[in-house]
Amino acid sequence: MLRTHTCGELTEKHVKTETTLCGWVHRRRDHGGVIFVDLRDRYGLTQVVFHPDILKKNFSLAEELRPEYVIKVQGKVRMRPEGQTNEKIKTGKIEIEVTELEFLNRAKTPPFEIDQEMEVKEELRLKYRYLDIRRERVKNNLILRSEIFKTTRKFFENEGFLEIETPILIKGTPEGSREYLVPSRLYPGDFYVLPQSPQQLKQLLMVAGIDRYFQIPRCFRDEDQRGDRQPEFTQLDLEMSFVNQEDVMDVIERYFLEITEKHTTGKKFPKKFPRMTYHDAMSTYGVDKPDMRFDLKLVNISSEKEKCGFGVFENSEYVFVLPVPKKHGEVTRKMIDDYTELAKKNGAGGLAWFRVGEESGPVAKYCSKEFLEKITKKTNSEKGDLLLFGAGNFETAVSPLGAIRSSLGDVFNLKDPNNFAYLWVYEFPMFEMNSEGQIGAVHHPFTRPLKEDQHLLANEPLKARAEAYDIVLNGVELGGGSIRIHESELQAQIFDILRISKEDADRRFGHMLRAFEYGAPPHGGCAPGLDRIVMMFAGEPNIREVIAFPKNQTAQDLMLGAPSKMPEEQIKELHIEVREEE
Ligand code: AMO
Ligand code: AMP
Repeated sequence: MLRTHTCGELTEKHVKTETTLCGWVHRRRDHGGVIFVDLRDRYGLTQVVFHPDILKKNFSLAEELRPEYVIKVQGKVRMRPEGQTNEKIKTGKIEIEVTELEFLNRAKTPPFEIDQEMEVKEELRLKYRYLDIRRERVKNNLILRSEIFKTTRKFFENEGFLEIETPILIKGTPEGSREYLVPSRLYPGDFYVLPQSPQQLKQLLMVAGIDRYFQIPRCFRDEDQRGDRQPEFTQLDLEMSFVNQEDVMDVIERYFLEITEKHTTGKKFPKKFPRMTYHDAMSTYGVDKPDMRFDLKLVNISSEKEKCGFGVFENSEYVFVLPVPKKHGEVTRKMIDDYTELAKKNGAGGLAWFRVGEESGPVAKYCSKEFLEKITKKTNSEKGDLLLFGAGNFETAVSPLGAIRSSLGDVFNLKDPNNFAYLWVYEFPMFEMNSEGQIGAVHHPFTRPLKEDQHLLANEPLKARAEAYDIVLNGVELGGGSIRIHESELQAQIFDILRISKEDADRRFGHMLRAFEYGAPPHGGCAPGLDRIVMMFAGEPNIREVIAFPKNQTAQDLMLGAPSKMPEEQIKELHIEVREEE
């Protein structure tokens, strides 16, 4: 070993101990010919002192020291003089009187200062991520991440789960996003697909009799980037045999209680997680992942809108209202304009509004007095309160109000960071219509319909609900799962509803249908996103902060410079031709 101690280790107990430390020059100060350096490593900082009378041999070397030089020092631990102690760090009472100094490496001036937790442009941080990780923020997040992973592995091992790896080069698995393809050299025109999740493989492990599987796999999805999304991310993936929904939710809930108790401090969280159906979540909060830390609930006024006098409402299937009490604060006209744009982004034609007791706005202009009085009463609103309306089909009536509700939660400071409001959302629909008017699976096509809804599959599949559940924390979907289909006939019926022809189903999912013919047990599982868990536990605004080497918002690795052009030879070998974009 080059060193005897780390820079976070020595205290007054070690006084007079002979020590050798290695690390980076964090900060350097000169005081009348004596040089003080804060030496840094992953574990902390230790003050080391270079005195010309003591370090006789090469004091001039100490004078050359610059930030981020890597050095090795030898010397004795001694108490710092009275008044020079630093109570904030563990090593703050001592210092090292250096007798030997050795340079391990010099360093260029870094593009940003390591010793100050100043805001640095993210682009620069990502390009020099290895320097960024020297700073406190990301380093501490990576330490927390590692701790959570440790607890995770221990928890599932104790519960009798086997950790099993599944391949990365596979055949597509439909989770609803675009897939990353890997061209095959040996089979011209054929491709491997990177897994969006190990979904099919973990189900095949259940057919294989593994009974309880877990893994911390990397997943790949070529989708639009957002704060809580990365093209590659990490799940805690698990699957269980001979279980119902209750059993899976029980394990997951106990897991979340364990990591919350172990890896957070001062958080308020429910000892038993509340549950809400998808339908209730949507009609009360306008989203399938409501933030339960604050109230502001939607009210369904679809049965009151008839003959209200306003065409937009009368011609809509649903009308919902979000009452915003004045006591929370003022919603200005400028904010209403911004929220109108937000509503449009969420599928609405616009945003109708009404301030109780005032004449301005479209609703006051068109709607009858009786209607306005009825709505005011129904929503318990008072003079000056604002009512925001959403009209359309169910989704377009509630979703815009849900997005506005979340923003108001921020604006009015209603999101207490010390409150961990876990929530289960369940009974999701099996299917939905996508923007192109095609039917698709809400979770994925292996999800089991509720028993009492199976009769709906033949004629009204959109009404069928699934045995699917999401775990939500403070408005963030942390994980999703479901009980699966384990019978090949039912699976074939679902493919049929999804307009996947028999030939297509056989080509894409023949292995699943075949496996189900060899005695598949009833099974189900769940997959929380670990990046999102660490993000929430670290109180970070996005998952890039908790990933060592993340991609930026446009899916590039700025440090490595990926994606990048490849030599023509290599491309040719893959039987691929690159066309210049016009
Ligand atoms: P789902 O697609 O809901 O389910 O994903 C599960 C969880 O994975 C995380 N996640 C992501 N995290 C970061 N970046 C992304 N692009 C991203 N996409 C998803 C989220 C999400 O809740 N196989 C099923 C699970 C199952 O049925 O067991 C699945 O992958 O936290
Ligand atoms: P318009 O008929 O398009 O002029 O809209 C009249 C008012 O109704 C405007 O204030 C719109 O913002 C609002 N509005 C239009 N479509 C909707 C909708 N789907 N939900 C709520 N308000 C709407």
